[in-house]
Amino acid sequence: MAVRRIDHIGIAVESLEKTIPFYRDVLELELLGIEEIASQKVRVAMFAIGSSRIELLEPTSPESPVAKAIEKRGLGVHHIAYAVDSVEAEIESFIEKGIRMIDTAPRGGAGCSKIAFVHPSDSGKVLTELCEHVPAEEEN
Ligand code: CO
Repeated sequence: MAVRRIDHIGIAVESLEKTIPFYRDVLELELLGIEEIASQKVRVAMFAIGSSRIELLEPTSPESPVAKAIEKRGLGVHHIAYAVDSVEAEIESFIEKGIRMIDTAPRGGAGCSKIAFVHPSDSGKVLTELCEHVPAEEEN
């Protein structure tokens, strides 16, 4: 099996401060942390739900890829991330299956040790992320 489970769902928001209360106080999910990813010009709030997570993405600049996605498609669900054992191996396997990858080599991502995005044209228009964890984080 190429993918193990849904690792997280990425949701594009206007403001973490305005959106966090719904997930924390209404859904009562555990807020795992907030981090800024300077390279992606985004602030990320991560919530735990079972062995999956919800990732809220707030752009910190109009140049952010998330800001551009909001411009094109609006706020809301931005991507689905699947947990894989090896991002490298899946990139190779996806390419062999004729799937275009945005990332043809793994890179760092919020809450994953390695990630790669699939080109949405080849994934039914759903931005799809592959996410690999360091083994210790996989034991939950
Ligand atoms: Co993600």
